[in-house]
Amino acid sequence: MSEEKRVLVTGAAGYIGSGVCRKLLSEGFSVIGMDSLMYGATGLLPLLVMPRFEFVRLDIRDHSQFQQQLDRIRPFAVVHLAAIVGDPACKKMPEAARQTNLDATKALFGVALENKTSRFIFASTCSNYGLSDSMALLSEDNALNPLSLYAETKVEAERWLIDNSATLETYILRFGTAHGLSARMRFDLTVNEFAQAIAMGSPFDVYDSETWRPYCHVNDFSDLICHICADKKIRAGVNVFNVGSDEENYRKIDLINTIAQATSRTARFTDIGRGADRRNYRVSFAKVAAELRFKPRYGVAYSARQISEALGLDLFPFHGGRYANV
Ligand SMILES: NC(=O)c1ccc[n+]([C@@H]2O[C@H](COP(=O)([O-])OP(=O)(O)OC[C@H]3O[C@@H](n4cnc5c(N)ncnc54)[C@H](O)[C@@H]3O)[C@@H](O)[C@H]2O)c1
Repeated sequence: MSEEKRVLVTGAAGYIGSGVCRKLLSEGFSVIGMDSLMYGATGLLPLLVMPRFEFVRLDIRDHSQFQQQLDRIRPFAVVHLAAIVGDPACKKMPEAARQTNLDATKALFGVALENKTSRFIFASTCSNYGLSDSMALLSEDNALNPLSLYAETKVEAERWLIDNSATLETYILRFGTAHGLSARMRFDLTVNEFAQAIAMGSPFDVYDSETWRPYCHVNDFSDLICHICADKKIRAGVNVFNVGSDEENYRKIDLINTIAQATSRTARFTDIGRGADRRNYRVSFAKVAAELRFKPRYGVAYSARQISEALGLDLFPFHGGRYANV
């Protein structure tokens, strides 16, 4: 396998990372996955049985360790997904959140630059838009308005990458909220949480039911990252993209109705009015569609049916925090 085809993925055991590695492997890349395994290693199971996959357990905050690894691996591309993800996890571990999401991102990018890595792909989030007064679709040029430590770390990391990316082809991907099945399952994500409750017939609370956000399937993120790694076209400097589709902006109340309808179930929820999370924004995905020809294949209804089927097969037998980040 030539060096051009070697991709390093941080956060490889995570909800999104495990699928990204699988997709890259299936498209012929050699993949070196890195992760500290904060949430266990179940995400690695489908990967360890595949050829051309290597796993390195490390904490990306350990600069000298990942420098050694990058010197050895010399990847064509770095896909940087490792992070303390979500508002609750960052609130619980503020120091680790700053060190991982911001400091380690800068250091990792610096080492990639020294190593002459060709592409650096950074997972950011549409949460960076925070709260929008108007219901117009927000583009990559709109102002960011982070409302949590999680979004603050992502916005700061983005700004730093923008200031330092002159010589490394860099992609900042602002993902919508992910959903769908993954080998490292998360039921603390809105679609998955609602789909689980509706499938199980369990009552659940909904706050700020009229607020908007964009959603996107995990497999679609994998497809896009793989497309960027494989693309012959070079886009020098920094490239910022919202990742999702215009049609998949939903109010929470619409999500619930879509999930219930897709699975022919009744949603037993209580609308509890205003919550602490003030995020409310609708996002435009015109740029990623036009420049990277990205058209997501799986919507919320598809995920709802997938999750309902998986729960029916008792694929997630553990309770408590096993399938969440806090
Ligand atoms: N899930 C979403 O809805 C969503 C939305 C927007 C952006 N993102 C971004 O996508 C990326 C992946 O998110 P996810 O949902 O897969 O989260 P996740 O929590 O499932 O995965 C993150 C992985 O990073 C690893 N990790 C954390 N700190 C580490 C460290 N110091 N060293 C090495 N590994 C470490 C964890 O062990 C975990 O496996 C993150 O950067 C996140 O900010 C996710």
